[in-house]
Amino acid sequence: MPDQLIAGNWKMHGTVAWSLALVEELKHRNLDALNAEVCVCPPFTALYAVHQALRGTDIKLGAQDVFWKEQGAYTSQISPPMLVELGVSYVIIGHSETRGRFGVPEPDFTEEILRHFGENDATVNLKVKAALLHGLTPIVCVGETLAERQAGQTDAVITAQVKRDIDGLDPAEVGCLVFAYEPVWAIGTGEVCDAPEANRVCALIRHIVTDICGEEAAQSVRVLYGGSVKPDNAHDLLEQPHIDGALVGGASLNANSFAEIVSHAHKIAERRNNGG
Ligand code: 13P
Repeated sequence: MPDQLIAGNWKMHGTVAWSLALVEELKHRNLDALNAEVCVCPPFTALYAVHQALRGTDIKLGAQDVFWKEQGAYTSQISPPMLVELGVSYVIIGHSETRGRFGVPEPDFTEEILRHFGENDATVNLKVKAALLHGLTPIVCVGETLAERQAGQTDAVITAQVKRDIDGLDPAEVGCLVFAYEPVWAIGTGEVCDAPEANRVCALIRHIVTDICGEEAAQSVRVLYGGSVKPDNAHDLLEQPHIDGALVGGASLNANSFAEIVSHAHKIAERRNNGG
C-alpha cells in the first residue's frame, strides 16, 4: 500500500517571508523520516521561494490552481508549464472556493461570484487534462454543500462531479489522479465529517472510478479527505480503509499541527506494514 498523502493547502495565507519561516519549521520536524508523502501548496507568489527552500527534502510542492492553456491573452492566469518551471508536482483543481455557484438568487450573486471564481466541472475537466499533459498530478476536489447533504443528494452530487471531472480521460490517466472529498460544509467550519461517513463517500469515489475506468485505475487512484482535519481527528479519518490521506487547510498553517497530522499517517502506515 503506498504511503498516505498529507497535503497542506495554505490558501491565501503567506507572504514569501512567512512561507519560508513555516518551511524552516517543517524542516525541523524531520518529516522525511516518516512513512507519509507530504506536500505543501503555498500561494503562487511563494512557490519559487518555497521550491528553493524545500531542496534536499522529500516534501513536494503543490499549487492551488492552474489554467488549461499553455500561454496567451489570459490575464491573471497561470499555465501548467509555468508551474512545472517552479518545481511544482501537485496542483489542486476544483476546490470549492474556486468552483462557482451560479443560479443563486440575484441579491447573493455578486458575493457568490467574488467568493467562488466561477469554476465548474467543464473547466475542472480542462484543467485536469492540461495538468496531466504537463506531468502535474491533479488533486481534484469534489464535495456537496450543506443544502445538498440535507436534501439527500450527496451521492448524486459526488457522482456527477467525478464523472464530469474525468470525462474523456483514459484509465491510465485517471489512475494517476488524486481526488479530495471535501464536503463544503466541513471546510473551515471546525465541523468535520465523521470518519465512517467520510470513508463511505471516499469509497463511492473509488467505486465510480471502477465503473468508468476499471479496477486497475480504481486501485491506483488516491482519495483524500479534506474539511476541518486537525491533529485530534486525523487518526480516526486516516485509519479508514478508503481514505488515502488528507487535504489540510487551517491546520497546515502551523508546523506543529501539520507535523502531528503527518505523524498520525506514519503510525497508521507502520501498523499496517506490521500486519496490524
Ligand atoms: P480546513 O482544513 O481549514 O477546513 O480547509 C480544508 C480545505 O479546504 C483544504 O483544501
